[in-house]
Amino acid sequence: MLALIEAGYDVEIVDSFVNAKHSVIPRLCELAGRDLRVHEVDLTDRAATEGIFADAAARAAAAGRRLGFDAVVHFAGLKAVGESVAKPLAYYDNNLGSTFSLVEAMARHGIRHLVFSSSATVYGDSYPAPFTEDLPTRATNPYGWTKVMIEQVLRDVAAADPTWRVGLLRYFNPIGAHPSGRIGEDPQGIPNNLIPYLAQVAVGRRAELSVYGDDYPTPDGTCLRDYIHVLDLAAGHVAALDYLWDATEPVGTWNLGTGHGTSVLDMVAAFSRAVGSPVPYRIVDRRPGDIAVSYADPSRARAELGWVASRSVDDMCADTWRWQSANPQGFPDA
Ligand code: UFG
Repeated sequence: MLALIEAGYDVEIVDSFVNAKHSVIPRLCELAGRDLRVHEVDLTDRAATEGIFADAAARAAAAGRRLGFDAVVHFAGLKAVGESVAKPLAYYDNNLGSTFSLVEAMARHGIRHLVFSSSATVYGDSYPAPFTEDLPTRATNPYGWTKVMIEQVLRDVAAADPTWRVGLLRYFNPIGAHPSGRIGEDPQGIPNNLIPYLAQVAVGRRAELSVYGDDYPTPDGTCLRDYIHVLDLAAGHVAALDYLWDATEPVGTWNLGTGHGTSVLDMVAAFSRAVGSPVPYRIVDRRPGDIAVSYADPSRARAELGWVASRSVDDMCADTWRWQSANPQGFPDA
C-alpha cells in the first residue's frame, strides 16, 4: 500500500481484520503521511462488498470521475497450509467466495484491472526448481488449491470478457518488514513460518527453533527456499499494475522471487548475524508436505515488468529484527 502511494496512486484499504490488528492503521497513516480510507468488510459479504464499490462510484461521480476505483489489488485470503488441511471448506469458502464477490462487484462497476496474490505453491511438488510460469499447476493442500482455482477463475473471467487486465503474481517466500520498524509480520498464535518463528525465538518469546529435517538432498540437508523482501514484493505489485494499463493480453502471470535458494540453516545464520548473537535451534523430523527445493525463475518479470528483487537475505533479516525487537509482542491490541 505504501509502495502504491509512493508511486502516485490513491489507495483505499479493505480488510476483515480477521488476521490483522486495528493498531496497524495509525502506523500506516503515519508512514503514508496522510489519512487513509479503511473499509472493515469481509469480502465474502456480497452486500457489504457492493457497498464499498457503490460508495466509491458515488464519490467519483460527484468529483467528475468515471470510475470509483481504477484497479484492485486482491490480497484477501486465509493462508495457513496446515489449517487448510484441517478446515478445507473454510478455505474454499473464504478464498473463493471473497474472489467471486469482489470480481462480481468490479464487473458491475466497470472496473477490470486486477492484480491477484497467487503463490509458488501452485507448482506443487512435481518439478525441479527453478520454477517457470508455464509449468502446469498442481497444489498439494487445500490452501494451495484455492490459489490454483482462483487463477483459473480469473483466466476464465478474462476469456469471457477480454477487456479485463489481470496480473497473477506468484509469490515465493515473502519475509522482512518495513525498514522503519513500525510495521511487520504479527502472526496470531504459534507462527507456522520460519522467519516469524525465528524472530520470536530471538526476542525471547519461544525457547528454540525446530528445524524440520536435515536429510534433504540439498548442500546442508535443510530445505531451500526463495526468500523475498516484502518491499521488493510490493515493488512487484506496482510494476504489474503499471504494466497492465498498456497490456495487450488480458492475463499476465509472473513469479515474484529472487531466483536464489537459501537453506534453513543459512537463514538461521543470517538471522543470528542480524540479532548479534546465535539464535538457538534443534534439528527435528521433517514436516509433512515440505518440498526440498523451491526457487523462482524470475526472468519473465524482469523482461516484461522491468522488475528485479534487489534486497539481500541480510537486509530481510535486519528489517525483520528491527521490527520484532521494537515490537516484541507485535502490534498493540488496542
Ligand atoms: N521451517 C522450519 N521450522 C519452522 C518453520 C519452517 O524448519 O518452524 C522450514 C520449513 O520446513 C521449510 C522452510 O523452513 O523448509 C520454510 O518454511 P515456511 O513455512 O516459512 O515456508 P514454506 O516454504 O513452507 O511455505 C511458504 C508459505 C506458503 C506457500 C509456500 C509456497 O508459507 O503459504 O511458501 O511455496 F504456499
